[in-house]
Amino acid sequence: MKASFCALASLLLAASSVSARTVFSAIQVDGVELGHGVAVRVPSANAPVTDITSKNLICNSGFVQPVSDVVASVPAGGVVAAEFHHTSAGYVGPDPADPLDPTNKGPVLAYLAAVPDATQEDVTGLKWFKIFEQGLNPQTHQWASDLLFINEGYVNITIPSCVKAGQYLLRVESISLSSASQYPGAEFFMSCAQIEVTGGGHASPETVSFPGAYTATDPGIVTNIYAVETYTPPGPAVFEC
Ligand SMILES: *[C@@H]1O[C@H](CO)[C@@H](O)[C@H](O)[C@H]1NC(C)=O
Repeated sequence: MKASFCALASLLLAASSVSARTVFSAIQVDGVELGHGVAVRVPSANAPVTDITSKNLICNSGFVQPVSDVVASVPAGGVVAAEFHHTSAGYVGPDPADPLDPTNKGPVLAYLAAVPDATQEDVTGLKWFKIFEQGLNPQTHQWASDLLFINEGYVNITIPSCVKAGQYLLRVESISLSSASQYPGAEFFMSCAQIEVTGGGHASPETVSFPGAYTATDPGIVTNIYAVETYTPPGPAVFEC
């Protein structure tokens, strides 16, 4: 009896994790909204990437066509607000799972990679550095995903003031850890925005590759969120000027 109840409970858990789905589909630059899909490569499906060795972990796949050819100008030190919603359509009205199902918990991370041309299709072999991470606040017990829900899908990301001027892809990622007690289990939701940093400095941050930056044994990826008090997001340290 008990065993079958547990089986049912885990089925229900698995079912609820399906609605974790979320899509990063728009940006604001220093408070100015660019518009849905402008300067962002928006995946048409809101399904997660679960294989950390997949090329799709870089900037996702199956984009809404046509992909924006806009490259958003951002002053170094400026703020890009990434906007997540339940589906690739963006905000379409009240939805209890917008921007994501609030029962799904996890971090939000952002990375930059310098590119010759931010509209280039090929995203393999890029060198990424992390500029933002939010995990679990041990005082408030709030996850980054809780803040994303409270803030209606917006998360503010500051572009470090010392990065070199030029074109970049900005990869913003929400991870759902609701089924992450083993690998695979964590669900990765990401898109890439196309930006041009102006001003800036001469920083040469240490970089990582996607895929490659995440491992199947990283405690930021394999974690039982129902048992942890503290949490360290996966990947490298956040670059600071
Ligand atoms: C982002 O920053 C702007 C400007 O400081 C602020 O008004 C807004 O509330 C912030 N949004 C979030 C989600 O923190």
